[in-house]
Amino acid sequence: MASFHSWAAHGPKQKLVPYEFDPGPIGVEEVEVAVEHCGLCHSDLSLLNNDWGRSQYPLVPGHEVIGRVVAVGEQAKGVKIGDHVGIGWTAGSCMHCALCLSGNQHLCRSAQRTIIGHAGGFADRVRAHWAWTIPLPSTLDATTAGPLLCGGITVFNPFVLHSVSPTARVGVVGIGGLGHLALKFANAWGCEVTAFTSSESKSDEAKAMGAHYVASSRDVNSIQAQALSLDFLLVTANVPLEWGALLGTLKPKGQMHFVGVVLEQIPVQARDLISGERKLSGSPTGSPVAIARMLDFAARHHIAPTVERFPMSQVNEAVAHLDGGKARYRIILDVDFK
Ligand SMILES: NC(=O)c1ccc[n+]([C@@H]2O[C@H](COP(=O)([O-])OP(=O)(O)OC[C@H]3O[C@@H](n4cnc5c(N)ncnc54)[C@H](OP(=O)(O)O)[C@@H]3O)[C@@H](O)[C@H]2O)c1
Ligand SMILES: [Zn+2]
Ligand SMILES: [Zn+2]
Repeated sequence: MASFHSWAAHGPKQKLVPYEFDPGPIGVEEVEVAVEHCGLCHSDLSLLNNDWGRSQYPLVPGHEVIGRVVAVGEQAKGVKIGDHVGIGWTAGSCMHCALCLSGNQHLCRSAQRTIIGHAGGFADRVRAHWAWTIPLPSTLDATTAGPLLCGGITVFNPFVLHSVSPTARVGVVGIGGLGHLALKFANAWGCEVTAFTSSESKSDEAKAMGAHYVASSRDVNSIQAQALSLDFLLVTANVPLEWGALLGTLKPKGQMHFVGVVLEQIPVQARDLISGERKLSGSPTGSPVAIARMLDFAARHHIAPTVERFPMSQVNEAVAHLDGGKARYRIILDVDFK
């Protein structure tokens, strides 16, 4: 009987403990991956804490997986044993609904999320549907690529979805795991980039990562100094902020786009949208093709996450580091099961 070794939480806000389980026979369209590295996303933390009310325990987190294919189901396509691949937020989708057939598999109503009712990448092995097992470009550094599979696609896809022009002035709110990648992508896309951060200590690093300007994300005066200057404002923070002032940084026709899961309601004055024909929007990760294109773009522009590394056996220390707001800028866990 096969058994997978993993780190799992058995209830909300509990520490992760070693957890061994029998995954059963591999599905005909599934791929099994031997995990090498896995990023730690804030969504892992939110699910560990059951902040979204949809966690299932035991919960094996980890959805920024890098590893090698070690087994393939009889009808798996596109990948073969030995391939270096990545798996992100989604591990499967129905492949026959209108969303799947139109290339929007990430929006499939019956998509299997990698860490909800499915064991994620804080493990020695993880499985996913072949279409969601994304081959890595050979020129991409596999040791740091993991965070691209969730954080990367989440901040890259809005540029594609909303046709952000390379001449656009773009703001990024929150310079954490997602936000620091957004600075790198926006700069490579050609945009003029403003980082909005609550951490003064991140200012120089934000500039090194692609920001042309840095402003406070909490101080209203600092935000208002950017009034009417931005075409696109990407919000990666997940806390209540001065939304009216942030909306005011948009030029007429500008757009404020949410990827950070702010749990509180976001109050907005209708007149602030109406008068300048401004837009509000949001998006989740992206389709398999979008992920593959993002990986190609990252490889071509030498975009790599800025990471801190922990052995997977120190996963609880890593989670505490992220929870304490200390991650600079994404944590990667390296597999070390004995
Ligand atoms: N839409 C999607 O599909 C998707 C995908 C992945 C993640 N997410 C969500 O995106 C959010 C960010 O994820 P992440 O992994 O980037 O998290 P993270 O690494 O913890 O970064 C969040 C950043 O938000 C800012 N922030 C945190 N607390 C703050 C406070 N009290 N006041 C002001 N700013 C604060 C900080 O940036 P500064 O230090 O610069 O202020 C922090 O680095 C989470 O809600 C996550 O669940 C969504
Ligand atoms: Zn579907
Ligand atoms: Zn994530």
